[in-house]
Parts: sequence; C-alpha cells; structure tokens
Amino acid sequence: MKILKTIQEMSVFSKKARRDGKSIGLVPTMGFLHEGHLSLVKSALLSVDLTVVSIFINPAQFGKNEDLDKYPRNMDKDLALLKEAGVDVVFAPEASEMYPGGFITFVTPQGGLEDVLEGEIRPGHFRGVATVVAKLFNITEPDKAFFGQKDAQQCLIIKKLAHDLNFSAEIVILPTVRETDGLAKSSRNSYLDAKERKAAPAIFKALQMAQHMIELGENDPSVVTAEIRKMIGRTKLLDLEYAVITDPETLHPVDSIGGRALALIAAKVGTTRLIDNIMIER
Ligand code: PAF
Repeated sequence: MKILKTIQEMSVFSKKARRDGKSIGLVPTMGFLHEGHLSLVKSALLSVDLTVVSIFINPAQFGKNEDLDKYPRNMDKDLALLKEAGVDVVFAPEASEMYPGGFITFVTPQGGLEDVLEGEIRPGHFRGVATVVAKLFNITEPDKAFFGQKDAQQCLIIKKLAHDLNFSAEIVILPTVRETDGLAKSSRNSYLDAKERKAAPAIFKALQMAQHMIELGENDPSVVTAEIRKMIGRTKLLDLEYAVITDPETLHPVDSIGGRALALIAAKVGTTRLIDNIMIER
C-alpha cells in the first residue's frame, strides 16, 4: 500500500493509472476509521481496479467553535486497517498541502440544500465539504467515489457538486453501518462517555418509531415529529436539535407523508452532536 502525502505524488499516480486503463475508486475520509468507512472501502475494492482512501481532517468544514482540534485521530491504526483491507493508496496530505498560504478559491453550493438542517446549524460547513471534495476529485480523478448515507445531506450536496461541475465520478452512496444497538457508526461516538453511549441509541429508536408510525398509516409529519420530540425528550442526556420528515431529494419538509420520505434527526448527547436518518418507503 502506497502512502502519498503530496498532491503531486497523488496526481502522478492517478494519471498513470488512467493511462494504464485502470479504474480508480475514491473513499474520502477524515480518518479514525470504523466499520462504516470499511464498508465503503470494501465496496470500492469490489468495483474498481485501484482503491484510494483519503485521510484528511478538513479544517474548512469546521466552524470556529467546533471540534477541529479534538477531532479523533489514529493514523497508525487507520493505515493498518486499510493495509489489511487491501487498499492500494492512502492519500494523507497536511492542511498546508491542501490549503497553502494564499488559498482563496472555494466551492459554495447555493440553492437551498446547503443552508438547511446541518447547514443552518453549521454555517459554511458544506462550503468546506464541497471545496475539499472538488479538490480531491481533481487530484485523484476517480471513476467512482463512495460516501455513507449517514451524512444524507452531504450525499445530496456531493451528487449536485459532481453534476454541476461536470466531474465524471459516479457517486456511490452506501447504507449506514450501525452498532448492534442501532447507534450509527461515527468517529464522533468516541467522544461519548459510558452513560452518553447508553443514551445515544435513542436517536435511532426514535427514527424507527417514526418509520413504524408511518408504515401503520400516519401521514401527518407534525404528529410523527411530536412523538420523536417526546421520545428524545424523555431520554436523559439527549437534547434534540431537529427532527424533520423531508422530501429525500430536496430536503424540504413534507406537508403530508406519501411515497418516499427521509426522516432526519440531530441531537446532542452530552456535548457531542450526532446525526442520523432513515429512508421511509410507503
Ligand atoms: O464525511 C466526511 O468524513 C467528510 O465530510 C469528507 C467527505 C471526507 C470531506 O472532508
């Protein structure tokens, strides 16, 4: 497994691979890998010739008071996991490599998807995500890029980015990987202490309850979200930020539930923000 730290090295590798007729799969990550990331890696390994995993904690997508400095890191463990999985290349640049002095050009999604839900609570977050993903696409020239459905809003924005900026990469979205008690795998779960960890699965339980209510015929989103609020409200250590039932493509809240809908929750567990979602088919 090659470990490349510079854009130049990564770019030379990708260009040669393309000349040799090899397809490239990119799995962008911020490291501290878990089974969710590894499911993306496995899918890439099965469907492309060369799998590139990027490990880069992107400062541009963190707000001033967010967790950039304490974001969990374990490069040695990540590299061991990726080597064992059979990954071809890890691209792990420094922040100064991706954003050298004088960097002024950002990709800013504008159209509504970026300033609701996560975008409303984390202003500028999706500008940072879109910028780094566009840079990673330019540097690695992937045929396919793999993302997890846990970050549903990010997935929609990246699909739009690829379409609008004419990246040829196919955007592959894979299901959320969960702990046995339903908690969505996330690097940020490592912030939770024992009591918080015990409380956190209530987020997924609330989503499952929403799904059952809708499957049983409830079509008023306000009735469903009121039940979610009650359930999360009853759980000690949990503080709900939002619970919404939306159109899965536009993220506009729906007036009435029919067909497919996306239920999304963000909640604080102690001081840790967690997000999750579930697709509801009717
Ligand atoms: O989902 C993430 O880990 C990040 O937002 C991503 C896509 C790697 C961009 O930094």
